Amino acid sequence: MKLRFFMEHENAKLVQLYLLQALLIISVLVLFFYSIGFVFYFAILAALIGFLSIAVLFHFLNLPFYILPKISGAVYVPTSEENVQTMVKLAKVKKGMRVIDLGSGDGRVVAAFADAGADAVGVELNPSMVEKAERLLAAQKIKNAKIVWQSLWDVDLGEYDVVTIYAVPSMMKALTKKFRAELRPGTRVISNHYPIPGWTIEAEKNQVFLYII
Ligand SMILES: C[S@@+](CC[C@H](N)C(=O)[O-])C[C@H]1O[C@@H](n2cnc3c(N)ncnc32)[C@H](O)[C@@H]1O
Repeated sequence: MKLRFFMEHENAKLVQLYLLQALLIISVLVLFFYSIGFVFYFAILAALIGFLSIAVLFHFLNLPFYILPKISGAVYVPTSEENVQTMVKLAKVKKGMRVIDLGSGDGRVVAAFADAGADAVGVELNPSMVEKAERLLAAQKIKNAKIVWQSLWDVDLGEYDVVTIYAVPSMMKALTKKFRAELRPGTRVISNHYPIPGWTIEAEKNQVFLYII
């Protein structure tokens, strides 16, 4: 991951989490090398080399170099092109509507909503995905959309007319709480693949579920 990314996508909280994670990995490696008989200073050196190797490997495999999404949200699984169009249809997008895709991945959902006239925002934790989505928006010359490097749990949803998400069942309890606390009456929530437990489905097509607050 390029240093430029962190400068262009300011998010002190996430940078701190990255540093904390790096520190944790290095500490575990130091302990490992020390426990198998390395002299302390060599254990530190070996740990640093090990850490850099892991980071480079993850970078070239285009894998998110953090554990955060695993514990705070879904890992990347793209919505099919057909379902992206279904989401746009169910949202009944009007020009200027504010739409947010929580965990925006490669940005196709954001691009489709912007294409339909919405002011679209994607929030995404994985820097590689943020960059990929930004490249997509630039390639399609989309102006009424942006991608924010942020955790979806830190976004205030109060200003949005449509909220879309491709979550996993383990997130639903916390998500429901967040939606209840922040969403305005009339907001359309579109949940991809998984229904929101206990909520009344307004419409459903091909496992895309629409709810109206
Ligand atoms: C199932 S994918 C959906 C991608 C895209 N919305 C789509 O439908 O094609 C979930 C995305 O959420 C991202 N993610 C996971 N946890 C997150 C969090 N706490 N905040 C923001 N994004 C998160 C993942 O990196 C991944 O790109």
